[in-house]
Amino acid sequence: MAGKTVSRLWPATPAGIAYGGDYNPEQWPEEMRQQDLALMAEAGVNFLTVGVFSWAALEVSPGVFEWGWLDRVMDDLAGAGIAADLATATASPPPWFSHANPQTLPVRADGTKLWWGSRQAFCPSSPIYREAAVHLAGEIARRYASHPALAMWHVHNEYGCHNSACYCDVSAGAFRAWLAERYGELKALNEAWGTAFWSQRYTAWDQVIPPRRTGTFANPGQQLDWARFCSEELLACCRAEIAVLKEVTPDIPVTTNMMSLFKPLDYQRWADHLDVISNDHYLLNFLERPEADLSLSGDLMRSLAGGPWWLMEHSPSAVNWQPFNLAKAPGQLVRNSLTHVARGADAVGFFQWRASRAGAEKYHSAMLPHAGRDTKVWREVVNLGANLASLSEVAGSRVESKVAIVHSWDSWWAAELDAHPTMALDVAGHIRAWHSALWDMNVTTDIVSPDSNLGGYDLVIAPNLYLLTDEQASNLAAFVRGGGTAVVTYFSGIVDSDDHVRLGGYPGMLRELLGVVVEEFFPLAPGETVRLSDSSSGSVWSELGRADGAEVVAEFAEGPVAGCPAITRNAFGSGSAFYLATHLTGDDLLAFARRVVAQAGVRPVADTPKGVEAVRRSSPDASYLFVLNHTGQPAEVEVDGVELLSGERVEGTLRVAAGAVGVVREERPSAAVRS
Ligand code: GAL
Repeated sequence: MAGKTVSRLWPATPAGIAYGGDYNPEQWPEEMRQQDLALMAEAGVNFLTVGVFSWAALEVSPGVFEWGWLDRVMDDLAGAGIAADLATATASPPPWFSHANPQTLPVRADGTKLWWGSRQAFCPSSPIYREAAVHLAGEIARRYASHPALAMWHVHNEYGCHNSACYCDVSAGAFRAWLAERYGELKALNEAWGTAFWSQRYTAWDQVIPPRRTGTFANPGQQLDWARFCSEELLACCRAEIAVLKEVTPDIPVTTNMMSLFKPLDYQRWADHLDVISNDHYLLNFLERPEADLSLSGDLMRSLAGGPWWLMEHSPSAVNWQPFNLAKAPGQLVRNSLTHVARGADAVGFFQWRASRAGAEKYHSAMLPHAGRDTKVWREVVNLGANLASLSEVAGSRVESKVAIVHSWDSWWAAELDAHPTMALDVAGHIRAWHSALWDMNVTTDIVSPDSNLGGYDLVIAPNLYLLTDEQASNLAAFVRGGGTAVVTYFSGIVDSDDHVRLGGYPGMLRELLGVVVEEFFPLAPGETVRLSDSSSGSVWSELGRADGAEVVAEFAEGPVAGCPAITRNAFGSGSAFYLATHLTGDDLLAFARRVVAQAGVRPVADTPKGVEAVRRSSPDASYLFVLNHTGQPAEVEVDGVELLSGERVEGTLRVAAGAVGVVREERPSAAVRS
């Protein structure tokens, strides 16, 4: 992995791979704990996240704390040898807080106030909330600073899940302060936002407001800065809690659980403030390939971490918050969990330990279902615990990748603003499509920022990298000049960091690198496709352009831009840069991806049947081949070594049953590892 090298604090316990999940004992009579602990031992649970939603149970009225129950929980965990990922409990202010401080409630763009009664009912800019949260975090930190169960601080929970933006007057003031810091003078803001347009010029700071509901398209610069501000504002909440935790316990690592490709938060900026990168991943049934998305989220987390990371939450079976909550098939719990491990997770956590009897999540699956122990889920939970124990030597090993997808939140926000050539642009979908093509080939991929060091990669893909700074464009060019292969897709390199179009022909700063000039976009109608001269076809996008030094690989073969380049390749320095002026999907994308992977000299981890995923983790002493069979058929993969889940030797051929997983400590790592 080339993207990032960082040294981070890591929890001293548990050893090996951490296994457990969210434990919410305040929902249950205390007498159940002995039963819980016995069952946790049966499952091999060695970590629990405690206190995520405990504000109301801990601070029962302003400044009045009831610690007894949590003291006993922590003591019991220590007695059972279970590490606590102890939450700061700030994610859900109790009704007494919101009732006493109604000015802390979040407000939507249309002015609707969001009331208490669910969770995360606070304005991220509210000084009253922030002070109360920091106070609570500090009290908890001082209380448990030297408790033997304490292994890690779990700051808040899923920042921004329900309140990623608040448009109230307090937020407006904070936004203005943030803008004043960024621009210094109003004149600079007016320039950056292009307020000469539509008579939008500001003459005093107090005229500047969040992009509240307005008659038509709000100013794009205002919207983009608002997205940046909202991410930073929640990060400021997180950092304020971290500061007090670090003051009290400098040696205890801190984390907050991320949510994969979550648009509102720029996790590339968040990552540097955390010791442990942790993630919550839930299978999204509306995606074409939910299991490939699972791998993508693991790749993103590993890239943010620069090494191992924690899977903080996923679901043992169904969730409760999608329109249709599909239960997991037998074997899927284990396979999904081990997919995260294959992608670099050194912890596997679930939401939650015991299925709730009451509340909005009572139909969300849990490690211990309503029906108890004699269940599919419980047997798989126990089985997974045993599997993870067999894999403990894998902890700390790393995943190498020679391919990176370049992604930035700034560009994502800007690319999907309104009033653009097409509404069909879907940056995350485009990243998923590319990742899934590489996934089909067993080519492991990092997801990195365009600012990161690309030096260690052979192939870099930039899907819809619409906003590109001068430095980022030079970074990409230097990568290709030095011998790398790049693929840039349509609507990339179009604007600068103020969302101002780069003049002289698209794609702006990338014209020289790509050897093309584009004069006009020709987006396609919904469902429309366009044939290319190489017999593939594109959707979403086409454009009127010409090669300016690049070799034309395929042209548009029909429609108003027939004859214009659709796929080009430009020799640049010692490398080459491909440009895709349309959206390839399915087999066409796969064929193109195969071609660039081969051209870049990247070798897949292993050759497997379709739907059978192979990933390798390695340490200086060993390498581990994970084979995850997502199909309904048994699969065979060539490898020699010891299969760690069964302890059996593998000579030549590993057989993996339908839906199952094999993990082989390799004796003769294939040539691909060494590439
Ligand atoms: C997460 C959250 C958990 C639980 C879970 C259900 O978003 O952190 O508290 O709500 O989803 O899937």
